[in-house]
Amino acid sequence: MEFQRTVLVTGGCGFIGSAALLDWVPRHPGIRFVNLDALTYAGNPLSLSEIEKARNYAFIRRDLRDPRAIRQAIADHRPDWVFHFAAESHVDRSIAGPGDFIQTNIVGTYHLLEACREFWSNPEGKLFHHVSTDEVFGSLGDEGKFTEQTPYDPHSPYSASKAASDHLVRAYGDTYGLPFKLTNCSNNYGPRQFPEKLVPLMILNALEGKPLPVYGQGLNVRDWLYVDDHVDAIWQVAERGRFGETYCVGGNCEMRNIDVVREICRAVEDLADLPDRESMITYVKDRPGHDWRYAIATDKIESELGWKPRETFRSGIRKTVQWYLDHPDWVDSVRSGEYRRWIESHYGHRGVPA
Ligand code: NAD
Ligand code: DAU
Repeated sequence: MEFQRTVLVTGGCGFIGSAALLDWVPRHPGIRFVNLDALTYAGNPLSLSEIEKARNYAFIRRDLRDPRAIRQAIADHRPDWVFHFAAESHVDRSIAGPGDFIQTNIVGTYHLLEACREFWSNPEGKLFHHVSTDEVFGSLGDEGKFTEQTPYDPHSPYSASKAASDHLVRAYGDTYGLPFKLTNCSNNYGPRQFPEKLVPLMILNALEGKPLPVYGQGLNVRDWLYVDDHVDAIWQVAERGRFGETYCVGGNCEMRNIDVVREICRAVEDLADLPDRESMITYVKDRPGHDWRYAIATDKIESELGWKPRETFRSGIRKTVQWYLDHPDWVDSVRSGEYRRWIESHYGHRGVPA
């Protein structure tokens, strides 16, 4: 059977990319999906075991930092649509060492854009969907929300690198006619998130009886969205959104960090039948340049496309805790040196520069 379209997903072994592929591959059997991922510490092929044998799915291990490998991947697979998820994504890591963020998020995005520019001389039927973050807008005070018109004001090396990649995508649209769409989304949570981010770190520490490290006083606010709702928003924008446009995506679910952690404690106590977890909360040194508050206005995506988040935080966090309880093998794999050895023996170093 001929496929109607080829879709390249970068970063499909990461948290959001894997949720996207697990949803899209079975839902669209007429579309061929190619997952391009370097398998950094954050990419786990085990996340995709349910679809790895699907006839409309292929995995290629390639690194965005290697321009020849990226050009060759586009030449070989000739995608019609590209969903660019791959990035270094953790703010604290970007503070400890910005280099990989510059190389992957800025230079890597440039390599991908260049390859698309070369092979997409006819933009008909093509789409470059750039998956970005609300952190490019900076930090809010106690009032107001980010909108598509909010000026960029990134503070961390991570958000600065994502802002640069957003600007590059728009510049390729304006200068070379690249057919792009862009989404800026708030904090995601859900299954298969690497346990360095707030939600999975707190879940696993709470399950294991370890301290729950809350930065500062825990009063910073984030707007939480269940990952499947984000995936749904991205597909709707790709199918029905306007080219050259940006859509803000958020959960309309602002919470202080301390309240998120308390909610996780309650879910863990309940689902794992454990005694009081809140007493394990430990206040630790604040993140440097810690953005105070994020909140996203979703009016545009709601009015143009009818998208709305479906999951509530309470139900989503319980599903998430249950997923971590049910998948100890996944958790062990991302934490162990065994995992890295397994990756190398299965996928080798192909496409990854020394
Ligand atoms: P993640 O860290 O879980 O996954 C990143 C994936 O990209 C991994 O599979 C990794 O192996 C791959 N990757 C990293 N460097 C690469 C390279 N040089 N070449 C090829 N692949 C590489 O990230 P995530 O949380 O799934 O985020 C995905 C995207 O969504 C990112 O662009 C991020 O900025 C954006 N985003 C994330 C959130 C969130 O809350 N997690 C919110 C809004 C936007
Ligand atoms: O807003 C979207 C962004 O959300 C994405 O672009 C990023 O990729 C994603 O990592 C996330 O960034 P945050 O910095 O908001 O997420 P993180 O989970 O690292 O932290 C959430 C909040 O919790 C933040 O205010 C810092 C705080 N925190 C975090 C950790 C890891 C703690 O208090 N303790 C912790 O141990």
